[in-house]
Amino acid sequence: MASPKQTGLTLAIIGCGVMCSSILEGVLASTTKQESAGTEPLISNFVATVQSSGSVERLKKQFPSRLKVIQGGNVQAMEEADIIMLGCKPYMAQAVLGAPGVREALRGKFLISVLVGTTPDKLHDCIYANKANNLSGPDDFCYIRRALPNLAASLGESATVAQASGSAAEQGKPLPEHFQAAMDFIFTSIGKIHIVPGDLYDIAGILSGPGAVFTTVAVDGMMDGAVQQGLKRIEAKKILAQALRGLAAILEDGQHPAVLRESASSPRGVTIEGLLSLEEDRVRHAYSKATIRATERSLNM
Ligand SMILES: NC(=O)c1ccc[n+]([C@@H]2O[C@H](COP(=O)([O-])OP(=O)(O)OC[C@H]3O[C@@H](n4cnc5c(N)ncnc54)[C@H](OP(=O)(O)O)[C@@H]3O)[C@@H](O)[C@H]2O)c1
Repeated sequence: MASPKQTGLTLAIIGCGVMCSSILEGVLASTTKQESAGTEPLISNFVATVQSSGSVERLKKQFPSRLKVIQGGNVQAMEEADIIMLGCKPYMAQAVLGAPGVREALRGKFLISVLVGTTPDKLHDCIYANKANNLSGPDDFCYIRRALPNLAASLGESATVAQASGSAAEQGKPLPEHFQAAMDFIFTSIGKIHIVPGDLYDIAGILSGPGAVFTTVAVDGMMDGAVQQGLKRIEAKKILAQALRGLAAILEDGQHPAVLRESASSPRGVTIEGLLSLEEDRVRHAYSKATIRATERSLNM
């Protein structure tokens, strides 16, 4: 079969580990779907960099076609790309973005970071803080946006939170349409994207990542109760997983949780008995407190 026409944008992933491999898998699947439907794909060329030869082999095995893998060649990958996704560990950002040639390679391009706890301003400083350069105005800089996929990215069910604005140095310049479309395309390939203002990024990110993890405490508690009442744990987990899938669909359909609780509670019924027990133990307060505490921690990192 002839290889697809190489017409769309080029995406470079700098540090293609666990998270970015999940993203890449979703994006490649969406690109293939577009091509099969006869639509010109938004992104058609893919480059990835990693540090070790073991990871080069892993990527070649996981993505045998379409992906060009470069060991350590970050600047080369940035030069070849229109959109650059940063996927290394947060502590590596300075070394990767501060390397010679990066600021020139990124000029006018679009940098998307998935690094936890790293603001667009911090990323901007990693690239441009050294004043010994001739870049001075917003037109010289790259556009920077951050996005936080969650642990369900590999299953195509991420609730990705993205920041609407870039670094202060961009002076409020809007993201060009083709870059915005590419960002939407990338993250809808692995689930849903929620774009929020910068000051709400941390709380939205807490709901998407740790928030989903917090609910495992409730799941575990109910599983213990089910086992005490004679059900096998594995059976209890299956039932709860499907019940939660249904709950997610109901909430997405617009139902308010309080209304749902009320309509599920019959007089002298079992649901109200359990709900009152939860209120006695201040579970609702415990969850709002955990959400606030986690957000405060995130803001102070
Ligand atoms: N995992 C999650 O659930 C999750 C969720 C949200 C956000 N994130 C963010 O995603 C980022 C990546 O996390 P991860 O779990 O995917 O980590 P990871 O698997 O360790 O991936 C990091 C990748 O960076 C590569 N790398 C290291 N130094 C490099 C360099 N100098 N140049 C280019 N590539 C380099 C590594 O290559 P080698 O393998 O060859 O060392 C590795 O492939 C983190 O910033 C994290 O905050 C992760």
